[in-house]
Amino acid sequence: MNLHVAGIETEAGTAGFICRATDGLWTAIERALDNGYGLVFVTNGDGEAIGRLTLQDLRQALRDGVHLGHASLGEIVRPGSLDDTDSPVAPVLDERRRIVGIEKRPDAIFLPVAEPDLSHAELRNLMDAFLSTWISSTGEYITRFESSFAARTGMSHGVATSNGTVSLHLALAALGISPGDEVIVPDLTFAASANVVIHLGATPVLVDVDPLTWCITPEAIERAITPRTRAVMPVHVFGRPAPMTEIRDLALRHGLFVVEDCAEAHGAAYDGQPVGSFSDVASFSFFANKIVTTGEGGICVTGNADLARRMRMLRDHGMRPERRYWHEEAGYNFRMTNLQASIGCAQLERMDGFLAMRRRVHEGYEAALRHLPGIAFPPPMPARYEPVTWFSCALVPAQARPQLIEACRQANIDLRPFFHGLSSMPAYRRYARKCPHSERLSACGINLPTSRKVDTQTITRIAEIFAGVLTGNGGRSEAE
Ligand SMILES: Cc1ncc(COP(=O)(O)O)c(C=O)c1O
Repeated sequence: MNLHVAGIETEAGTAGFICRATDGLWTAIERALDNGYGLVFVTNGDGEAIGRLTLQDLRQALRDGVHLGHASLGEIVRPGSLDDTDSPVAPVLDERRRIVGIEKRPDAIFLPVAEPDLSHAELRNLMDAFLSTWISSTGEYITRFESSFAARTGMSHGVATSNGTVSLHLALAALGISPGDEVIVPDLTFAASANVVIHLGATPVLVDVDPLTWCITPEAIERAITPRTRAVMPVHVFGRPAPMTEIRDLALRHGLFVVEDCAEAHGAAYDGQPVGSFSDVASFSFFANKIVTTGEGGICVTGNADLARRMRMLRDHGMRPERRYWHEEAGYNFRMTNLQASIGCAQLERMDGFLAMRRRVHEGYEAALRHLPGIAFPPPMPARYEPVTWFSCALVPAQARPQLIEACRQANIDLRPFFHGLSSMPAYRRYARKCPHSERLSACGINLPTSRKVDTQTITRIAEIFAGVLTGNGGRSEAE
């Protein structure tokens, strides 16, 4: 039975933090991953807490040559480790030193804006892939990951890549984008969206975003079309879908390709259809801060079998699959490894849970912060749009943003400003356009920590810090 202490329960429950001294390292590693805090408490035969083991301790034990199966935790646990003050959780003990609950100490550790959510499932898959010795870009996890991910977006083909930048590059290359071509790209995006266009010798045509969706609109695209336009790249920024039905129809009318950049929007939808299913090719990223991660990784999904074949060939040095070392064109090495895909397969099975957690965190921030002066949240979208939360976002007064970031940093909490509008940066000076909405969002936008560690206590702390800065008492909480 789990004994809980009211108000300070963790998602994992008390039992998820406890190992016996006779347990092996593997048990502790899996439990420390699954509870999300990277540590376990060790109890002796009488159920008394005798110490704490972090993933760092367990890694050190492995490096010291401690055997995974034979050694028991009792042999490596450090006496006195329960008193370590850098612990994000502490056991609540009864009079006989038995663990009856888990108390969180949210201010004891640094809270990053994003953290990968890795459990025993990813670890077991990774171990399996490793032991198979298929550690490069062939292996059963690759094919499984490609087909399951494509199926989730309603597409028939998935081509996994080494990251979400090269998947965009691969998509454009496979569509024949080349020097002289123009590709319409939103001004508010991560730079990779435009960089790949430039690397192919084409021109990114930057357009402003819509203040409601934060994405490009069909109207803005239409205004930017020239005789050189070959493709449009809507980016579902921060999980907010662009109006894809209209963009697809517009592109069809003008004979343009559509490459969706879904790097930040796994699971979002428009008109009841998943993002990634509206375009010639859609690209996703699986970088460690993304909704689903493979460490580094990406994928192109498409419904077009010829395009999928071409992308596979270009991904593999331009080599004909049925004729080894025969190169039809100068291709790339953009392949994903079986090790990455093994992590991705486990992540995909947990994806609905990730989306629910992110939604919960965002709703928590909205409820706690929305009444503060100067704070706004992303505008609610009409029913046709089904956004997801990648990073939880808020808009704050531009002049207060550095102070908010600094006040949170001093409290060990990481906040991040939005991307700079591409037009504002030296690398894109020759493509710069006036993009007032992108400029405003970029000046006011802030990303809040979004991970399973963010609970009501954390949100309350952040709300107190924000209240302090925004109401002018220097970031101190009311309680002080
Ligand atoms: C909108 C957008 N496009 C492309 C990328 C590139 O993905 P990756 O970091 O996997 O190369 C990212 C991710 O960082 C992104 O946010």
